[in-house]
Amino acid sequence: MQINRIKGVEGELRVPSDKSISHRAVIFGAIATGDTEVYNWLDSADTRATLRAIESLGVKVIKEKDKLILKGRSYNFTEPKDVLDAANSGTTARLMSGVLATQEFFSVVTGDDSLRNRPMLRVVEPLRNMGALLDGREKGNKLPICIRGNKLKGISYFNKKSSAQVKSSLLLAGLKAEGITEVIEPTLSRDHTERMLKLFGAEVITLSEERGHIVKLKGMQELEAREVFCPADISSAAFFVALTLMVEKGELLLRDVLINPTRDGFLKKVMEMGADIQLLNTREVSMEPVADIFVKSGAKLKAVEVKPEEIPSLIDEIPILAVLMATAEGTSIVRGAKELRVKESDRIRAVVQNLRNMGIDVEEFDDGFAVKGGKELKGTEIRTYSDHRIAMAFTVAGLVAHGETTLDDVRCVQISYPNFYVDLTAVSL
Ligand code: S3P
Repeated sequence: MQINRIKGVEGELRVPSDKSISHRAVIFGAIATGDTEVYNWLDSADTRATLRAIESLGVKVIKEKDKLILKGRSYNFTEPKDVLDAANSGTTARLMSGVLATQEFFSVVTGDDSLRNRPMLRVVEPLRNMGALLDGREKGNKLPICIRGNKLKGISYFNKKSSAQVKSSLLLAGLKAEGITEVIEPTLSRDHTERMLKLFGAEVITLSEERGHIVKLKGMQELEAREVFCPADISSAAFFVALTLMVEKGELLLRDVLINPTRDGFLKKVMEMGADIQLLNTREVSMEPVADIFVKSGAKLKAVEVKPEEIPSLIDEIPILAVLMATAEGTSIVRGAKELRVKESDRIRAVVQNLRNMGIDVEEFDDGFAVKGGKELKGTEIRTYSDHRIAMAFTVAGLVAHGETTLDDVRCVQISYPNFYVDLTAVSL
């Protein structure tokens, strides 16, 4: 893909729906009783992996033009006839492992080259402690993993990395376990599972104490089917926010965007950098806060620091934030982000290498990087590592760089934003 500098950005967009919420909506539809209707579901490679897994468990899914209808089976699933392929999706592999741990049948979960290299012990270990049998490569840390579920018992688990995938996996298992499942995390990770549990009628206790943020769930609760409206994904909107801020002439309205406080770190950071952003028409949709975001170019951005405790609220936006940091005045720093090394690619490496190739001074740390901003980005050859967020972040960088930028593989945008290039063309001047 070849990219050249654009003059500006203008118009309005509704970026695709939130990936995290779309995964959860179909899982909840499957484990509830009755017909769940999901509107604005994100149809992308990652979320399709979850839908396929659900269908392999005997859940009937009706695909209509404006919605998906899931015939809930209240955890009464049938043994899948084949291996479940989570493809590139960590959320599919980890959340579905929690569901499968409740089933007494045999199942196997695998994924693509990238996912088979990502750590799974973070869910395998606590699910074993709840009573399920799990094994896999490297003593259960790597896919493929096989699961023989069981009658589970609730546990109290300290989620040291504040991972929402781990928390969600244990809550999905805990819903079918005896007693109480409790997950404690040092920083509150995205809380879509807790919100959706409440939406589907479950009793969940969420509190913050000295020992951390706590979610408590009593097992054996029945969920009732609901209508779920998926809002636009802030992680996808972030590319357009950044682009609008970096071009000379930019005004963009992004409609219907999720602004959940566990996900709004990127917006907060760019406002701290001095960006001109307004949140309009703030409302609640299916228990999630949503707003229209109006962005204008023109403000001189200044460097910022991202602290370890801020990382969970902007973890997926760090590649595009790094690009924005390169154009801001001063040295920006990101620390406490070691998790980025085990995402779809090693995102610290990918960001550092690509920014350096574009002529920017970047220092690499084990858990982050420092970007010396204020220099012009130079068009160059970019390696995306087949990682959707790296591809989109450096496409945006290419659109503001001087000279031509070439990206080696952009097919990966299918993972979360199949129409990315169409939408970009629609708002570019
Ligand atoms: C997700 C949680 C985050 C995030 C991922 C989606 C989720 O991962 O990076 O893209 O939907 O729960 P971790 O839970 O591993 O931090």
